[in-house]
Amino acid sequence: MQKNWWQEAVVYQVYPRSFQDTDNDGIGDLKGILQHLDYVKNLGANVIWLNPIYKSPNDDNGYDIADYRDIMQEFGTMADFDKLLEAAHEKGLKIMMDLVVNHTSDENHWFAESRKNKENKYRDYYFWRDPKNSREPNNWKSNFGGSAWQYDPKTEQYYLHIFSKKQPDLNWDNADVRQDVYGVMKFWLDKGVDGFRMDVINLISKQPGLPDDPNADKSTVEDAMGWVANGPKVHDYLREMNQQVLSKYDVITVGETPEAKTEDAIKYTGFDRHELEMVFQFEHMGLDWSKNGLGKWSTNKVSLPELKEVMSRWQTKLNGKAWNSLYWNNHDQPRVVSRFGNDSEQYRVLSAKMLGLLLHFMQGTPYIYQGEEIGMTNVHFDNIDDYKDLETLNAYHEIVQDKKQVTSDQMMAYIHHSSRDNARTPMQWDATKNAGFTDGTPWIKVNPAYKQINVSKALNDPNSVYYFYKKMNELRSQYDVIVYGNYSLLDPKDNEAFAYERQLDQQHLFIVTNFTSHVIKRNYKVYNDQKSRLLLSNYDDDLKRDLRPYEAKVYYYEE
Ligand code: GLC
Repeated sequence: MQKNWWQEAVVYQVYPRSFQDTDNDGIGDLKGILQHLDYVKNLGANVIWLNPIYKSPNDDNGYDIADYRDIMQEFGTMADFDKLLEAAHEKGLKIMMDLVVNHTSDENHWFAESRKNKENKYRDYYFWRDPKNSREPNNWKSNFGGSAWQYDPKTEQYYLHIFSKKQPDLNWDNADVRQDVYGVMKFWLDKGVDGFRMDVINLISKQPGLPDDPNADKSTVEDAMGWVANGPKVHDYLREMNQQVLSKYDVITVGETPEAKTEDAIKYTGFDRHELEMVFQFEHMGLDWSKNGLGKWSTNKVSLPELKEVMSRWQTKLNGKAWNSLYWNNHDQPRVVSRFGNDSEQYRVLSAKMLGLLLHFMQGTPYIYQGEEIGMTNVHFDNIDDYKDLETLNAYHEIVQDKKQVTSDQMMAYIHHSSRDNARTPMQWDATKNAGFTDGTPWIKVNPAYKQINVSKALNDPNSVYYFYKKMNELRSQYDVIVYGNYSLLDPKDNEAFAYERQLDQQHLFIVTNFTSHVIKRNYKVYNDQKSRLLLSNYDDDLKRDLRPYEAKVYYYEE
């Protein structure tokens, strides 16, 4: 069996813009992250993934990079970064950078050159095409709404942007583009960073000739990526990247891969493939999507048997061949306790622990998104103007104002449930003004729940979600079966309890969780086993067959 440090690791994701502001401009910064390294270390995480910190005009909060070798002004300087990296390493923490190379900013030097004229050396770094019948070159849609093509009068051609028009797609079929990207990667790796999370990396190979998407009419906002995902040369490019760059360093890599199925993931991350180590798949994140053609915009509840089916399929199909990432949350997803749990005062803590336990005892590397470890909840701003995320704002305009598909009230309910800004409100450190995030005016409003839900309160409460996550991380470092054991699901059709087993040689784990707010009765064979002992639970005692609201337990035994 393969054993690698990144399989045993726990990753903590920091969204720098919303983590900690130290200069009171209302925007988080690198010095703010430096202040909290001990917080992350004490939680028991070993790797910090930083969302993009490069120079950017922030059309999409840093996912539009103007200079890959410079730091975003609001976040600090390269000297601040070097200091952060050094301090993290001294504490035994690794730093994983976000590599955004499917596209750049339109303010990137490469694009500025490219748009100058058709003969420019950088012209072919992007996709420029003539109009077709005085219109866009094909029917592709942008993932943020509208066409994926933007007309540039200067040279009378369109350029491709799968995301916003300020995020033109790079042409990976051009070998110079690839070499320049590898150069950027080496620049950061030679500084000592420990790996990359690769943004939408499975979109880099577009189909030759850029043919029309046959499903474009059916696809909706938020659904425009299928046709460009997992393209014909993506594996060639990732293998080349691995050969020329990654294989020369001992790093952690995880590719963000919308639309990837387990078969694709095995190609991207198979132990014998030499491409990436993990991917972020999206199947479990799509289960509550709209059934009315509105993509992610819905208030649907997830069905437990469907959730089990998806999670279990990823567990069993990858077992022994490739490696899973385990996540409920990130900067693009609503807060999990509000989404799959119960964020009422009575059940927030219990259900946040239940969800954490369910995920962290599966096979894979767990990712904790800032605030998840204290059970942060979705935010409900009443006014659309309080939202900052361009995806949310574009969708509101398109769905409510242009197409009039739903009322404004209905759309606000969808936004409360699904908007990316649910994850992006400032980190809630304490009950003081602005949750201790800034003394200035925060770039996005703080979630008013901060008075009840904050780090300072969690650290003072032995029963907090924080200490539960810490305990899970400790157990992970003590029991190999948590990391490497194989997985089998019990009772796939049970729509109230989610139970599974893990096994590695003589070591066994049994995990059971109650997804409801009432008592359910279940009998499992582990209860009759004298050798089994309770490793972790979110209640103080064990009633065995009676599973109380959101109860979650792990038993351990050896054979
Ligand atoms: C990824 C990022 C998201 C960003 C998009 C475009 O999905 O996680 O935040 O908007 O790529 O870069």
